[in-house]
Amino acid sequence: MDRTEHWETLYTTRDDTRVGWFEPVPTVSLRRIREAVEAGARSLIDVGGGSSRLVDHVLELGLDRVAVLDVAEHGLEIARKRLGERGRAVEWIVADVTEVDDVGRFDIWHDRAVFHFLTSDEERARYVALAERTVRPGGFAVMATFAADGPEQCSGLPVCRYDPAELARQCGPNFELLDSERYVHTTPRGVEQRFAYSTFRRLAPDRELVGAS
Ligand SMILES: C[S@@+](CC[C@H](N)C(=O)[O-])C[C@H]1O[C@@H](n2cnc3c(N)ncnc32)[C@H](O)[C@@H]1O
Repeated sequence: MDRTEHWETLYTTRDDTRVGWFEPVPTVSLRRIREAVEAGARSLIDVGGGSSRLVDHVLELGLDRVAVLDVAEHGLEIARKRLGERGRAVEWIVADVTEVDDVGRFDIWHDRAVFHFLTSDEERARYVALAERTVRPGGFAVMATFAADGPEQCSGLPVCRYDPAELARQCGPNFELLDSERYVHTTPRGVEQRFAYSTFRRLAPDRELVGAS
């Protein structure tokens, strides 16, 4: 089963409020996103957002532009239907984050529990290259992966686990680690999962600095 099939099957066969990663209110993500908004961010893309409730709350922040990207169209469809009329304000992008070339430019890149599924250097490099193209210099990336001592699988798939320093190494020199925290998520079945949350600032690449001078 390929990646798209895996996730489409999941969203068409499972109650999305019973999946392991479900959160009624994504508290830590929202706090970090609000901090970025307070620092001037005006747009957000939730990468691998699926049917997450995050977008419901982000729409209340009054941003200029909000997008949710996911490889599973049905995951996005669940969120779109839940939001009704409010969903018209969201750009719904069906794409694999490791394959899409361009999703536009945003101030905040949010990823909870997606990067950790990328188990090859090549896929991680393509992900980071897209994040570099997408996040405006001075913008933010808020990322949550399973922590170094977190679960070894998610949704039956193998994952790579990270402490903040290793995630920063993966994100490369164009993203500066601002701060991080550990977070224990409790699944709907009551299982505890250790996550690591980090916020990065997108640095201006040399060529843009040269162009601006
Ligand atoms: C564990 S779920 C997390 C969903 C959401 N971020 C949340 O916190 O509730 C992983 C999500 O990433 C999506 N996904 C997995 N691999 C992806 C990829 N390569 N490109 C885009 N989306 C992907 C899945 O369809 C799924 O919606």
